[in-house]
Amino acid sequence: MAAQKTLLLLCVGVSLAQDFITSEQFNKIEQRLRAAEETLKELKVENEALRIFTKALSEKHESMQAENEVKKIAFSAGFLASGSQQFGPFDVRKTLVYQKVFTNTGNAYNPDTGVFTAPLNGVYFFRFYAHSHGGKQMAVSLSKNDQTQCSVFNEKPASNGNASNGVVLSLQKGDKVYTELWSNSWVFDNESSFTSFSGFLLFPL
Ligand SMILES: *[C@@H]1O[C@H](CO)[C@@H](O)[C@H](O)[C@H]1NC(C)=O
Ligand SMILES: *[C@@H]1O[C@H](CO)[C@@H](O)[C@H](O)[C@H]1NC(C)=O
Repeated sequence: MAAQKTLLLLCVGVSLAQDFITSEQFNKIEQRLRAAEETLKELKVENEALRIFTKALSEKHESMQAENEVKKIAFSAGFLASGSQQFGPFDVRKTLVYQKVFTNTGNAYNPDTGVFTAPLNGVYFFRFYAHSHGGKQMAVSLSKNDQTQCSVFNEKPASNGNASNGVVLSLQKGDKVYTELWSNSWVFDNESSFTSFSGFLLFPL
């Protein structure tokens, strides 16, 4: 502002030097100077508002990016990491721990326990597939916390059995989803991953 004043005063000086300035002319120059000062003040206010707005916008963008990272939840795992096995039978229900992790974006599935823990409130889709060899009962259920949601069952198939089920579940953050082998049952798996478990977030709530 000081520079502008100096400039204007210089102009005044030049005018004065050229010929005498009337008080009317002087008033006009003063008015213009005031108007310029006002405009400058307004611009400064506007500039400050823009700065605050840009900062808020960039903060919002960052938090949206972080939120989107959290929303990426999907996993898929086969039962055995290698080799082949007839798994079972047990006297009690046994949580199936799928060890061959294909995808675990968001790390909500734990390959040490076989349990998926919802990282946020939302609607999720789960499916599981089980394979068994002939003469053996195959029975697997999917549970949410302590409650069975859906199951597959194959009573001693002649040669071998396949079964699959899937469910859309509304979960609260921290809810646990896993599959269990029933007592006195078997599942079979080998490198072909006949027995598997998958899930993903459809949308947050
Ligand atoms: C089960 O699935 C396997 C692999 O696709 C297949 O070879 C087999 O024939 C199926 N069993 C039955 C009883 O359909
Ligand atoms: C895996 O198991 C299936 C079904 O029991 C069998 O047909 C296949 O030969 C096995 N594959 C390997 C690599 O062991």
